[in-house]
Amino acid sequence: MQCSLVLWIIALLISVTDSKRPLSKDDRLSLREATREMLDHAFSGYMQYAYPKDELMPMSCQGKNTWGNFRLTLIDSLDTLLLTGDLRGFRKVEEIVNKMNFDFDKNVSVFETNIRIVGGLISAHLLYKKAKMPLPNGWPCKGPMLELALDVADRLLPAFNTTTGMPFGSINLKYGVAKDETPVTCTAAVGTYIVEFGALSRLSGDPKYEQAARKSLESLIDARSGIGLLGNHIDTQTGIWTATDAGIGAGVDSIFEYLVKGSILLTDETLLQKWRLLEKPIETYLNTGHDFYIWASMTSGATTQKIAQSLDGFFPGMKSLLGEVEHAMRIHLNYYNVWRQFSGWPEFYHVDKKLPIQGRDGKSFMNFILKGRDENPLKFLHGTGTARHRRNFGAAVRHGTARHRFFIAVPRHIFSLFSCFLRTKKD
Ligand SMILES: *[C@@H]1O[C@H](CO)[C@@H](O)[C@H](O)[C@H]1NC(C)=O
Ligand SMILES: *[C@@H]1O[C@H](CO)[C@@H](O)[C@H](O)[C@H]1NC(C)=O
Repeated sequence: MQCSLVLWIIALLISVTDSKRPLSKDDRLSLREATREMLDHAFSGYMQYAYPKDELMPMSCQGKNTWGNFRLTLIDSLDTLLLTGDLRGFRKVEEIVNKMNFDFDKNVSVFETNIRIVGGLISAHLLYKKAKMPLPNGWPCKGPMLELALDVADRLLPAFNTTTGMPFGSINLKYGVAKDETPVTCTAAVGTYIVEFGALSRLSGDPKYEQAARKSLESLIDARSGIGLLGNHIDTQTGIWTATDAGIGAGVDSIFEYLVKGSILLTDETLLQKWRLLEKPIETYLNTGHDFYIWASMTSGATTQKIAQSLDGFFPGMKSLLGEVEHAMRIHLNYYNVWRQFSGWPEFYHVDKKLPIQGRDGKSFMNFILKGRDENPLKFLHGTGTARHRRNFGAAVRHGTARHRFFIAVPRHIFSLFSCFLRTKKD
């Protein structure tokens, strides 16, 4: 879900430099340092003003528990700290997280808890060596972060005990699935487990996590329409679709990404084949012919909404993982041009009218900082932005769409991007 943000910030950072020449080593170094400063700023702000609450509210500078008493931002930050080489910060946070207990009476989204908490803990666990941390006994098959990840995953697993194997959307961490829990959930929340659950099974030796993720994926893909498209919401007890618009964005996106990343992580051809199966109808019915992806009826393939979404932004990244760089560049160029046109990506964009959909234009997180084209957004993050920036940011915060912790979760991808350029490209 955050991939579109990544796209946006990458575009933003790249625009800081002259876009007509390739990035030099110095550019990359300075962009990486700018990203590191952004991260430091966001993390120390959280620790200073919000900890031990879940999140920082950037306008009032106060903490807020959005997830119970989860210290969500802290867990979200673990792998970022390691990745950026802040070992002191990591050790401090690790000590706190180590003492955490997830046995509390709180209803959580199975999907969000998996990608943020389980995923965050596994990444931190796996990065110990790279960060030259003292390795726990038995690492990588043992370790405190892995134990915690397994504990949280065990609390999510009962959600998968349905007739189809597709999970309920929510679960109580202490008491399991509530009796009156709705069985209807979105496609992404059914198909986005194989990366974390696959890793957990391979590391722990217990196949139950990977089995649950695979069963869920298989049931979902088996429920595709006659022309091969997936819908948007499904009843996990009956396998009947309750929202039948097919698209690659909101409510669906990460299933495709996880098939591709899962196949790479687990070197599993069958996951890639599943993606290929879904890819054909996507290209036939959802691609406009000009590499924007729109929405269609999953049964007839007829276009229902001629909109592209900010959440589609993961698609070119996924295509480049597959080595389909030319196609990725064509899609990316579309997104980049829209971004240039509006100084940010509207949540929904009408591909014929070439305009944002009203009501979906100004509230998107990506639009929040800049309406003007002339300002360096990094300035804003350091508190020196103009009053206009602050107003826009304030509006976004009031709409609840700007999340301080995204400034920690998202830039880590950008940091890796510039680090990876530095490692692989010779100047
Ligand atoms: C969790 O959800 C169930 C079902 O909607 C509800 O009965 C229960 O009170 C909720 N628990 C908490 C802690 O919010
Ligand atoms: C799965 O659900 C069934 C029926 O609701 C229940 O009898 C069974 O014990 C559950 N199994 C697990 C492993 O939780």
